Amino acid sequence: MERTFCMIKPEGVQRGLIGAILNRLENKGYRIVALKMLKMTREMAAKHYAEHQGKPFYEELINHITSGPVVAMVLEGKDVITGLRKLMGATNPIEAEPGTIRGDYATEIGENVIHGADSASSASREIDIYFTQEEIGE
Ligand code: RTP
Ligand code: MG
Repeated sequence: MERTFCMIKPEGVQRGLIGAILNRLENKGYRIVALKMLKMTREMAAKHYAEHQGKPFYEELINHITSGPVVAMVLEGKDVITGLRKLMGATNPIEAEPGTIRGDYATEIGENVIHGADSASSASREIDIYFTQEEIGE
């Protein structure tokens, strides 16, 4: 069993998509191990998106991700890291296949409604930004 970090971005919360997105994740067979709603600070956002620092879209990304509450979670399941990325679809919603979350719920790359860690090392790094060991039941 693998674990990963997943987040419903501010536009997903604002548009009332929390239930629809959690439904898809649970229907796929992933278990929600920990879940919380929070408003990210700029410090958390900078830590989360450290790999993008200096890129042209960085400031916009940080402004956006801190603009309203997000839903952060730890998901568990077989091959969940790769599986979640497939379920999410491509970063740019125009490239995301219909049937994927981004393909079905988004049109803008900057408002692509969901985040998922892209590797095992990102997953554990990101889980540590949002959750304590106690919160994930360990
Ligand atoms: P995420 O980290 O949010 O799950 O998305 P991702 O792995 O599919 O894409 P990544 O390359 O990590 O980019 C992070 C987020 O930055 C925004 N972005 N905007 N305007 C642009 O060219 C651009 N490129 C990326 C997207 O919101 C993307 O999800
Ligand atoms: Mg990414």
